[in-house]
Amino acid sequence: MNIILLGPPGAGKGTQAKKISENYSLPHISTGDMLRENISNNTPLGLRAKSYMSRGELVPDELLITIIKDRLSRSDCSRGFLLDGYPRTIPQADALQMILTESGRKLDVVLNIDVDDEELIKRLSGRRMCACGTSYHVIFNPPEKEGICDTCNGKLYQREDDKADAIRNRLVVYKKQTQPLITYYMKKNILRRIDGSKDISAIFEDIKTVLENYD
Ligand code: AP5
Ligand code: MG
Repeated sequence: MNIILLGPPGAGKGTQAKKISENYSLPHISTGDMLRENISNNTPLGLRAKSYMSRGELVPDELLITIIKDRLSRSDCSRGFLLDGYPRTIPQADALQMILTESGRKLDVVLNIDVDDEELIKRLSGRRMCACGTSYHVIFNPPEKEGICDTCNGKLYQREDDKADAIRNRLVVYKKQTQPLITYYMKKNILRRIDGSKDISAIFEDIKTVLENYD
């Protein structure tokens, strides 16, 4: 299955992606995680991406298109993939279409996780991350031991772009640049809405029900 997880910042894309990836053995491709890894390793890409990300702006399309083209050409994507955070603009979606067509593949489904702004702000401001990629929430999804990751015992931290100003900007950027993708994929008849206001396990059950229709 070739799946895109679409949704505003804080909708729960990463949280659900982890479950989908484990349950269906699909590589979880998060462009946000890839960029953050480049920032931690001080790569040239990381150095270019850093200031955009901390302000809550999108990193330029040409960089993302190169990253995703390379990632989707790896052998672990030959039997399906799960994209989280890509595409985020119409040019990125067009580029994805070309990459897939050139390699004889196509998208099966775009899961659009829908959550209102007030809830998104609560989720983002209470999120805590671990370097292993697991995300928690101080109230909605707390770790067993405060500040410590259940999976790897790592120390939890707050993402730079989860501060109030950056959150506000990310929501504006989402509405302007990413929301048009809902209509884009609706027209292709592959968009499925997921009610993201439910609790984490109820949302995953809904996603499984949708995915039953695909191989
Ligand atoms: P990215 O890392 O993709 O961030 P995002 O899209 O803003 O989304 P988030 O990761 O913040 O939220 P999420 O939907 O994954 O929610 P999560 O599951 O963590 O991108 C970061 C930046 O990188 C961008 O701003 C941009 O600069 C750059 N970038 C990345 N891709 C790019 C691209 N393609 N083009 C250009 N630039 C790009 O959940 C959030 C919180 O809520 C957690 O605390 C979680 O525990 C909690 N939670 C989850 N589900 C629920 C629930 N059902 N109920 C209650 N709480 C919940
Ligand atoms: Mg995420």
